[in-house]
Amino acid sequence: MYNRLHNKKILITAGPTKEAIDPVRYISNHSSGKMGYAIAEKLLEKGAQVCLISGPVNIHLEHPRLKIVRVTSASEMYLACCKVFEDVDIAIFAAAVADYRPEKVAEKKIKKDESHFTIKMIKNVDIAYEFGRVKTHKQISVGFALETDDEIKHAIGKLDKKNFDMVILNSINNSNAALGYDTNKITIIKNDFSKKEFSFKNKTEVAKDIVNEIAATLSAHEKYQLEETVLDYETMYR
Ligand code: CTP
Repeated sequence: MYNRLHNKKILITAGPTKEAIDPVRYISNHSSGKMGYAIAEKLLEKGAQVCLISGPVNIHLEHPRLKIVRVTSASEMYLACCKVFEDVDIAIFAAAVADYRPEKVAEKKIKKDESHFTIKMIKNVDIAYEFGRVKTHKQISVGFALETDDEIKHAIGKLDKKNFDMVILNSINNSNAALGYDTNKITIIKNDFSKKEFSFKNKTEVAKDIVNEIAATLSAHEKYQLEETVLDYETMYR
């Protein structure tokens, strides 16, 4: 079978971001980066060129067609993405980006002088949303959704808001699934609103399912573009 992913340029964000409070403290989440890295590995097996923009994780991955850019905060992740956005065929947003960061980062370690302590937080840039605004009709974007209630409704909301071609809904209603674990249970929803549920699997197997679905989406996308080009050509010479 023709391998559509061969030589495709792919951006993946992975892992958590850490938002500094002072020189020794930060706000973050439980993301291990395993899902994003597993997807990167499967794409490399398919011959893709992968740029992995990774938050702080404990995973080692090396490959001749892999470039890893290590970042800490959401702002750094966004800036690193901006440098490659334009050039990629596919962008996969697997990072658990912190939605907020402390408004001010204290220069010195904060001392526990007071009985109460409040941190004022401000919104971080939504990387997937910004890419969704500028992406061309040739580019494909894939997002993740992690929900506790009204899962499908919220996932479709994200598909629409962030202009994703496909969204992967992680179920955290199953124990041992998603953030930090080795296993996951996903549902894939595409922008034609088709929905496919997968069984509970380890993240390597889940990555294989995701990559197969991305290849199918790419195939449909390229077929559609070819038809558009033929239509343009026919209109020009009618
Ligand atoms: N995302 C991103 N940048 C952010 C927040 C999220 O790129 N600042 C991406 C994630 O990588 C994921 C998708 O957007 O692919 C959805 O992330 P999620 O945190 O579930 O959604 P939010 O838009 O932050 O919505 P909420 O937290 O309110 O559910």
